[in-house]
Amino acid sequence: MVDIVIGMQFGDEGKGKIVDYLADKYDVIARFGGGDNAGHTLYKDGEKIVLHNIPSGILNSDKTNIIGNGCVINPISFMKEVKELESKGIDVKSNLVISDKAHIITPIHIEWDRFNESQRSDKIGTTMKGIGPCYTDKVSRKGLMVKDVIRSDFNLWGVKINNQIGLPFDVPSLTEFYKAIEFLKQFQIRETEILINELLDSGKKVLAEGAQAFGLDIDFGTYPYVTSSVTSVAGVCQGLGVSPKRIGKIYGVIKAYTTRVGNGPFDTELFDEDGNKMCQIGNEFGSTTGRKRRCGWLNLDEVKRAVTICGVDELIMTKVDVLNGFERVSILINGELLDLPGWDSSGSIHLSEFISKVSEYVKSPITYISNGVNKNDMKKVDVLSDHI
Ligand code: IMP
Ligand code: MG
Repeated sequence: MVDIVIGMQFGDEGKGKIVDYLADKYDVIARFGGGDNAGHTLYKDGEKIVLHNIPSGILNSDKTNIIGNGCVINPISFMKEVKELESKGIDVKSNLVISDKAHIITPIHIEWDRFNESQRSDKIGTTMKGIGPCYTDKVSRKGLMVKDVIRSDFNLWGVKINNQIGLPFDVPSLTEFYKAIEFLKQFQIRETEILINELLDSGKKVLAEGAQAFGLDIDFGTYPYVTSSVTSVAGVCQGLGVSPKRIGKIYGVIKAYTTRVGNGPFDTELFDEDGNKMCQIGNEFGSTTGRKRRCGWLNLDEVKRAVTICGVDELIMTKVDVLNGFERVSILINGELLDLPGWDSSGSIHLSEFISKVSEYVKSPITYISNGVNKNDMKKVDVLSDHI
């Protein structure tokens, strides 16, 4: 079976940590979309590790990690990421398999990203990682796949990259890029869509790790302020090559409040002291770009839509500890803000009430809360339910 972890808001719900936590129960952790626009922050023995291209199962030495065909991969940042992980004693080479059909982000895509943004009046506020231009090339049928760039007849793709007539900017240096491609060649590159089905046939359990989140989905998100991939649950089948019949449990991850990096609608955004507190206590700065995240109350109308469209079985609520000590907290329900009493600790009856209110409105059980950065700062909600 393939179980799935999907973010229900605008990313940065803490999916990386949840995947790392749940990974114990799985043999394979697979990314099905997005690229190094993602920033998944994990803590290992108190040390902070931020992953961009690589799945969050990599810290568990006995798991297979897959970068699926639906992903885009930046060889330069990939190389940096691997070297950093290796310097911390994490074995990436033996535990990572990359799809031969994942698309390659080139330095030219990054220039296009900058150029496109500079030309728009409705700026998206992208991560500037070349994600949109890379997916654009994929859909325009002129993208570079991993299997192209690892070929020894190097010219094929050398030509493909360079043959971009009339670029509105200088062609960036490709030296580092070529080096990074050589580096990429050392990794296990496979038809991961075959591998994953073989693993499933042999009884292995797969956890599909969402990147970005439902609110940034190309179809269902706040278009055009979205990313360029399918981040909703349907992306799993296409981005890994698995049938819908293989899908098991779907976990939705929500933060106890909302954050958003980049532009786009945000009904519950705060510009006051509460918003500042969320930002400071929650350390709400982008793990990819360092930008300050916009903060606001939990929008349950949005979460409900995400839960419905993704068919979520269980919700996991993160960062409830960030709201500890707030006198009151608000949630948006049917377009209106509702105030609820705040809580001091995860043992508070007010937190239990908050959780049951959310769960009832969005029609999904909340099974765990996460109240700290470490993998084991998790609490099963039935422990809390004595109060309810
Ligand atoms: P892009 O994916 O770089 O094209 O950016 C499009 C929008 O998605 C921007 O608002 C980004 O800030 C946002 N975004 C992309 N990836 C992430 C992520 O992993 N977490 C949060 N926001 C993201
Ligand atoms: Mg992130």
